[in-house]
Amino acid sequence: MDLRLAVGFIFVWINLSSTAPSALGADAGTSGKVRSAPGIEQHHPKDWRFSMPKGEPIKGRAVFEKFECYDCHEVRGESFPYPSSEAGPELSQMGSLHPLEFFTESIINPSAVAGKKDRTPNGKSRMSEDHIEKMSLRELIDLPSYIASRKPPMTANFVKGIGKIVALVPEAQEIVIDHGTIKDFMDAMTMGYKVSSAAVLKGLRSGDRVEFTLDTAQRVITKIDKLQK
Ligand code: HEC
Repeated sequence: MDLRLAVGFIFVWINLSSTAPSALGADAGTSGKVRSAPGIEQHHPKDWRFSMPKGEPIKGRAVFEKFECYDCHEVRGESFPYPSSEAGPELSQMGSLHPLEFFTESIINPSAVAGKKDRTPNGKSRMSEDHIEKMSLRELIDLPSYIASRKPPMTANFVKGIGKIVALVPEAQEIVIDHGTIKDFMDAMTMGYKVSSAAVLKGLRSGDRVEFTLDTAQRVITKIDKLQK
C-alpha cells in the first residue's frame, strides 16, 4: 500500500475511534467531519459534488406508474389515474424548478426536502417511503429523469393534420391515425397519439377521415373534426 494512503487511513481511524476530544477534532463544529491533516491529500477532488447520472425519462415514467406515485401526485398532461388524495404537489412543471439531484433526494429521503406544511406532527414528510425498500438503482436513476423532463411548454404550438382513423382506445385516451405530412412537424405515417381528454374522441369511429389539431409541446391531440368522405 502506498505510504500516504496508509497514513490517511490511520488518520481517519484515529479520528473516528477517539471519543475524547483529540488535538485535531477538538474544536466544536468540526466533530463528525474528517479534516485533512497538513500534507495529506483530500479523499475526493476539490470541487466534487454528488451528481446524478441522467436516466431515461420514458423508463422513468413506467417507474412512476409501477410505484403508483400518482396516488398522491398529479402530473398534468399525463393519463395516470387521478390522485386519490391531494397529498403531494402537482409535478408537471418540476423540471424547470429543481436540479435532478433534488428529485433523487425527494425520492430517497422525502423528509430532507419536505416543506413545513408537508410534515406530520412528528416532523416527517407526509410522503410515503414504501418504495425505498423496493426500488432498483436503475429505477432510481430513471425516475428523477422523468420528473426532470416535466417542463412547461416553451410555447404552445398547434399544428393541423389530415388522416384516417385506424383505431380508437378511449380507455387510454388514445387514437391511432394514418396521416399525411404535417407541415413543419412530421412526415406522413401511422401513429398513436394521446388526446387531451376523452371527449375529443366522442362520436368518432375507425375508418373516419378527420382533421386533427396537435399540441406539439405536449404531444397530444386537442381537437378532431370529421371530414366528409
Ligand atoms: C402518500 C403520498 C405520496 C406518495 C405515494 C408519493 N409522494 Fe411524493 N410527495 C408527497 C408529499 C406530501 C410531498 C411534499 C413534500 C414532501 O413531503 O417531500 C411530496 C413531494 C415530492 C417531490 C418534491 C416536490 C417539490 O415540489 O418539492 C417529488 C419530486 C416527489 N414527491 C416525487 C414522488 C415520487 C417519484 C413518488 C413515487 C415513488 C412519490 N412522490 C410518492 C406525497 C407522496
